[in-house]
Amino acid sequence: MFGHAVLTARTADECIIDQGWARYSADDHALWRIPFERQRQILQGHVCQEYLDGLEILGIGPEGIPKFDQMNAKLRRATGWEVVAVPGLIPSRPFFQMLADRRFPAGTFIRSRDQLDYLEEPDIFHDVFGHVPLLTNPAYADYMNAYGRIGLDAVEKKGVKFLARLNWYTIEFGLIRTAAGIRIYGAGIVSSFGEAKYVVNDRSAHHLGFALDRVLRTGYYIDDFQATYFVIDRFEDLFKLLNQAQFSEFFQRMRELPAYTPFDLLPEDQVIRQGTGRFWQDFRSTKTHLK
Ligand SMILES: [Fe+2]
Repeated sequence: MFGHAVLTARTADECIIDQGWARYSADDHALWRIPFERQRQILQGHVCQEYLDGLEILGIGPEGIPKFDQMNAKLRRATGWEVVAVPGLIPSRPFFQMLADRRFPAGTFIRSRDQLDYLEEPDIFHDVFGHVPLLTNPAYADYMNAYGRIGLDAVEKKGVKFLARLNWYTIEFGLIRTAAGIRIYGAGIVSSFGEAKYVVNDRSAHHLGFALDRVLRTGYYIDDFQATYFVIDRFEDLFKLLNQAQFSEFFQRMRELPAYTPFDLLPEDQVIRQGTGRFWQDFRSTKTHLK
């Protein structure tokens, strides 16, 4: 949903299309069910309760690709959000505008059988199974809304790169601390079999306490599992942080500072778990293209 754009449309409304639900074939619905069942199994006991509540509230199940209209009636009641269909990745400005208007853009295509494990572009399974359930949670829903408003400002002030990092380390790959232990909430983990399995079973990655300036300075590689995950304590904290931070000044200050790589550990980091690094030890030196 967020990245290089395939569309040249300028306004949010110009990016919106019809979901065309009637066009999905039986095989398309089967291609929803396969990852759904697989994720349900791997995430059990590891995903946050707010996410599971969202699936339930919205009636998102394994039976097939959800109808946006039906889902939206429930989502609007919960937090005033709705899902809108878009043809692919959309430019930053309409993307942020949609979030600022409490509209979540979702792709309509479903992955093919040979894309079950790796997708170049987010499909409806990633967007809807991964992102939408948490939009039923008021604190998370407010965060996404504030993220959109700050994003619009960031487009004007050349701060989109920093918003992309914030998106990456919260909305896509965020973890949350609960009384029962660390839980997953990021859509990129929730919707990916490989990364979910890695988060659950592998101890290579660092778990660091979330700190805004640290996250905004930490680059990421889009083509591999994370070397660092940032852990929040409450969804309310994310929202507060967007309200308090003077982002414009922040961008100015951040632009002059070099980015950290996801492998770095700093003396001031709040280390919840130091990763073993084993997963990348043979190829981390080959990593380039830090975002
Ligand atoms: Fe996503």
